[in-house]
Amino acid sequence: MKIILSLLLLYSFSFSLNQYPSSESCNECHENIYREHAKSMHHKSSLFKDEIHAKVKNAVNKDKYKCAICHMPATKNLRAVMSGEEQPNPKSYRQTDGVSCFFCHQISKIYDSKAHKINFSNYNGEKKPTVFGNLKKPYESNEHHSKNNEIYKNSEVCMGCHSHKQNSHGFEVCNTKNQYDKTSDCIGCHMPSTPGTIEKKNKGLRESYKSHEFLGVHSNEMVKKAVKLELSYKDEKINLIISNKMGHSIITHPMRLKFAKTVVKRDGKIIWSNFKDSPLEDKKATFIIVLKDAKDNPSMPHEAVGYKINQNLKAATSVNISYDIKLQRGDEITTTWISYIVNPKIAKKLDIKTKELIKPYIGASESIMVY
Ligand code: HEC
Ligand code: HEC
Ligand code: HEC
Ligand code: HEC
Ligand code: HEC
Repeated sequence: MKIILSLLLLYSFSFSLNQYPSSESCNECHENIYREHAKSMHHKSSLFKDEIHAKVKNAVNKDKYKCAICHMPATKNLRAVMSGEEQPNPKSYRQTDGVSCFFCHQISKIYDSKAHKINFSNYNGEKKPTVFGNLKKPYESNEHHSKNNEIYKNSEVCMGCHSHKQNSHGFEVCNTKNQYDKTSDCIGCHMPSTPGTIEKKNKGLRESYKSHEFLGVHSNEMVKKAVKLELSYKDEKINLIISNKMGHSIITHPMRLKFAKTVVKRDGKIIWSNFKDSPLEDKKATFIIVLKDAKDNPSMPHEAVGYKINQNLKAATSVNISYDIKLQRGDEITTTWISYIVNPKIAKKLDIKTKELIKPYIGASESIMVY
């Protein structure tokens, strides 16, 4: 009996050493990075922490969770959750951790595939795993070995989930590659260097680390960097140039709505605007994807076979818009970039309640006076 008990203890001890590391376990040494990651959409990517994702998932399929391969990739029972054999379990940290620290840092290769690219994980349960990164001469830690891998430098590591995704009809519903089908410098824009230590004791003697907030469309600060707006007034025309400053299309995901609102003020009162009720009244200044199903009706991504509306702008390109209008000296023209995480129409349909998810995010703004 004693022997069995100690064998059991021994077994459970070695099992705990072999456990898949939770994101929280990295906090012991990487507290700056963990603090940021815990607020990021990567940490909140699973159906437990993202209201929009959970509601869309339920509209697509109540039983199967095929999305897990990108939204909950660290789970042990990935296949079973995807096929619906097993249901997501809020008590499993490997599930609630979403795109976890350890999952990302185990990706060693990205494979091409039609429906979406595929992450190859290096993990095979070893006691002291090897994490990949881009540090010059990483200090050897007790917790893990470290190894350089080119894909953490050239941003390929992002593409296993972000490159593109086809639905079951073979239609591409989202895409973050650029127009040349190349990976842009995702890391350069989304992981800026931040003053602080990489690891608590700063054994590597470093002054900065790469941010892990992964800010995007949920951040006012980033939405301000999305486009450049240029205004001029000549020959009874307002001219507006919208330039995409990002490394990908303006619309990467079909939930979004982004547009430029232009108004003219005379004596402090608005006398003209480019639309009244819906930004779609001014299609050229609106960026939106409306998908359609086989019967030509507007549809959710999983039923889509084509576009009903496809108003998008590729990476590093511009669109010129002009409005015919007779203005007088002293009139003020203002154009403002506005971005919605979920198109308000869809938000209403899905009954999204969280305020942060339905409010408009205000981006760049440009004003000129008519002389
Ligand atoms: C190939 C990987 C992949 C698969 C599979 C996948 N997604 Fe996503 N999903 C992403 C990525 C990457 C983003 C972020 C895209 C962006 O913001 O442009 C995302 C974002 C979303 C968003 C926006 C969430 C927000 O908070 O704004 C929703 C909703 C969503 N996915 C639903 C789903 C559903 C439902 C499924 C399964 C039916 C699914 N996804 C399958 C990669 C994937
Ligand atoms: C006991 C402390 C400790 C823990 C716990 C720890 N690390 Fe580290 N980690 C380090 C040290 C030390 C370095 C080297 C830092 C340096 O060189 O400046 C490092 C470096 C890294 C690097 C950079 C590797 C490279 O080659 O670029 C990554 C990635 C990393 N850790 C990920 C993780 C993840 C993910 C976790 C949680 C699963 C984790 N670490 C837990 C101490 C730790
Ligand atoms: C294992 C899959 C996976 C990998 C690898 C991955 N992402 Fe993501 N990423 C996601 C998913 C899923 C979301 C959407 C989460 C949600 O909104 O529910 C997301 C969200 C984001 C967002 C936030 C967008 C917003 O809505 O504000 C940014 C920015 C981002 N990823 C950039 C990157 C970059 C840069 C890399 C490479 C260093 C990367 N991701 C690697 C799956 C991944
Ligand atoms: C030149 C800078 C730049 C580069 C390069 C870049 N991004 Fe972005 N990205 C941004 C900005 C700014 C935003 C926020 C504004 C917005 O979403 O409209 C953004 C938004 C996003 C979003 C959220 C978009 C949405 O509407 O859901 C995702 C996801 C994302 N980026 C991933 C990536 C990935 C993956 C790469 C590499 C292929 C990449 N980014 C390259 C600047 C960049
Ligand atoms: C979406 C994927 C992704 C997730 C999630 C992620 N990382 Fe990273 N991490 C990266 C990439 C890519 C780099 C390399 C950036 C570069 O080029 O220097 C990196 C760099 C690092 C480094 C080296 C520091 C530096 O300044 O380069 C450490 C340490 C690290 N990550 C730890 C963590 C920890 C701890 C977590 C969770 C709290 C985490 N990472 C979550 C992608 C990720």
